[in-house]
Amino acid sequence: MDLSITVNGIKFPNPFLLGSGPPGTNARVLAKSFDAGWGGAVAKTVSLESSKVVNVVPRYGKLRSRETNEVIGFQNIELISDRPIEVWLEEFKQVKKEYPNNVLIASIMEEYSKERWQELTKMDQETGVDAFELNFSCPHGMTERKMGSEMGEHPDLTEEVTSWVKEVAKIPVWAKMTPNITNIKEPSLAAVRGGADGISAINTILSVIGVNLDTLRPMPTVEGYTVPGGYSAQAVKPIALRMVSQLGLGLPEGITISGIGGVESSRDAIEFMLLGASTVQVCTGVMLQGVKMVEELQEGLAKFMAEKCFNSVADIVGKSLPYFSTHMDLVSRMKAAKRHKAGEASRDNEWAQKDITEKTAELTSD
Ligand SMILES: Cc1cc2nc3c(=O)[nH]c(=O)nc-3n(C[C@H](O)[C@H](O)[C@H](O)COP(=O)(O)O)c2cc1C
Repeated sequence: MDLSITVNGIKFPNPFLLGSGPPGTNARVLAKSFDAGWGGAVAKTVSLESSKVVNVVPRYGKLRSRETNEVIGFQNIELISDRPIEVWLEEFKQVKKEYPNNVLIASIMEEYSKERWQELTKMDQETGVDAFELNFSCPHGMTERKMGSEMGEHPDLTEEVTSWVKEVAKIPVWAKMTPNITNIKEPSLAAVRGGADGISAINTILSVIGVNLDTLRPMPTVEGYTVPGGYSAQAVKPIALRMVSQLGLGLPEGITISGIGGVESSRDAIEFMLLGASTVQVCTGVMLQGVKMVEELQEGLAKFMAEKCFNSVADIVGKSLPYFSTHMDLVSRMKAAKRHKAGEASRDNEWAQKDITEKTAELTSD
């Protein structure tokens, strides 16, 4: 079955993309994911000066199910890529050359400087990447340099920085949103005013994964100390779905959505699509299951389309959005349904009564 979809003029072989993070951390793993069947990938976020990016160990924490021990929530305090931009530029070129039909998206982040954002945009663009994702949403570490979610939490900055990138970008630009705000529509609409062609949502949710009761130290603990991190995996899916539905209902026509957050199966991915996402990104799911999970994503989507008679992936996008309403409307629908049922019951009663009367008449007519 044809699982392709065209988004912002780019043809994706299928709607499944690696989300920015460890699964897309260099050319080798990007190539491996395309070989496995991913339609596209958002590479790990890059910046101009990797020497300023210093990662810590440990930087991950897990929340496990009490019953099955399965990982249900995942926290990270990982920064953006600490690999030099020159290396990345070579690798972007190489990946695009080897995989011209897969979609490669460069995720970029910089300090609050028009010159820096535009320089990074131009140098990435020259490598032949297909689109940009602006990282306005990493909620830890980079924020201390006023980057990442420090920009995404302030709609005026989101709009301004997006417009800087759009001034020089010749390819589509998606803005990746932080969920750590009250209303995701505000920064998203600001990015759209700045010229964004699409919105990616969500990045991780600020979290503290736990506290070690022996040492009394919050986790993950680095030399005895920690910072709040970003929460992902299946525990965040309902929140991500809610935010994607708000975008599906609230973005102007033509602005596309890339849904992210807790996708681990085709079922999860289809839910995002039904709520308005035309592509779906997976990060933690790939870290936990490996790149081959895309096989189930493709098979499950094809099966769903066949069963529900969808002729194209695009037809699925937003199909469940008309079923959001207001509480008042739910109440009046419930009352109408009750009245309808009561009416049916009394009609049934009348017919039963009529039946008995007619039968009695038949019996007594002799
Ligand atoms: C270890 C780790 C590193 C990440 N690094 C980045 C990053 O460099 N840039 C970015 O935009 N998002 C990054 N993310 C966020 C993911 O792309 C994604 O938005 C988030 O984890 C929710 O999706 P998921 O549940 O599929 O992981 C990272 C996530 C994890 C778990």
